[in-house]
Amino acid sequence: MSDHVAIAIDGPAASGKSTLARQLAAKLDLIMVNSGEMYRAVTWKVLQDGIDPKDAEAVIAALVEMDIECSVAEGRSVVRLDGRRTGDELRSEAVNGSVSAVAAIPEVRNRLVEMQRGFLEFGNVIMEGRDIGTVVFPDTPFKIYLDADAGVRAGRRVAVGEVDSVEDRDREDSRRKTAPLQVAAGAAILDTSGHTIESGTEAALELLREQGLKL
Ligand code: CDP
Ligand code: CDP
Repeated sequence: MSDHVAIAIDGPAASGKSTLARQLAAKLDLIMVNSGEMYRAVTWKVLQDGIDPKDAEAVIAALVEMDIECSVAEGRSVVRLDGRRTGDELRSEAVNGSVSAVAAIPEVRNRLVEMQRGFLEFGNVIMEGRDIGTVVFPDTPFKIYLDADAGVRAGRRVAVGEVDSVEDRDREDSRRKTAPLQVAAGAAILDTSGHTIESGTEAALELLREQGLKL
């Protein structure tokens, strides 16, 4: 086991996880890992190969052949598919609409969770997703569950021009059998609805200090 620290940030879509993780990573010199990108990358490849994302058997067969590689560049996680760095295509409407189905498949999760834990080899990590505090790093004392009003969250996606049915995705992510979105034991809950990015970051840092974070 590595001695590095893991900070777990979980919450529904557009609650502000990536924003918070980016801010804290810069402040505390942490590696920022966006675990959602990994589920999005698998989903993008599945769609690219013409596979029905709801056909779990076909997805699992494709997963076995998939060349997924994770590394760190400029302090954040990078996902490569077949050697090529992934980018904006991961946030397409098609991926937004299919990622929850792919992420509900236990075999997909097993492979990605193992890769996610591997980031601790590189240094102290802040990782955001849905099951970081419950499954990926259940033993870390540093856990935040971010939330925001449903209307605020939907508005945040529209504001950046993304087509994303946040409500449907949250429902699927919360109801699935394997690693559903839920508040992890020991997590501090932070509602970002009324926060600016700066005030939300300060509030999160205070909660982490209360949990004993010394960085
Ligand atoms: O940015 P946003 O919160 O909208 O989504 P994301 O973090 O990019 O995650 C996309 C999707 O991946 C989620 O809706 C989940 O279905 C899945 N996911 C997951 O199941 N577990 C994680 N740790 C991270 C993402
Ligand atoms: O990663 P997640 O999907 O949880 O959310 P995000 O991508 O960090 O944030 C979604 C949007 O909300 C971004 O455009 C942020 O700039 C914005 N945001 C905000 O307006 N106020 C906050 N306190 C946090 C995020």
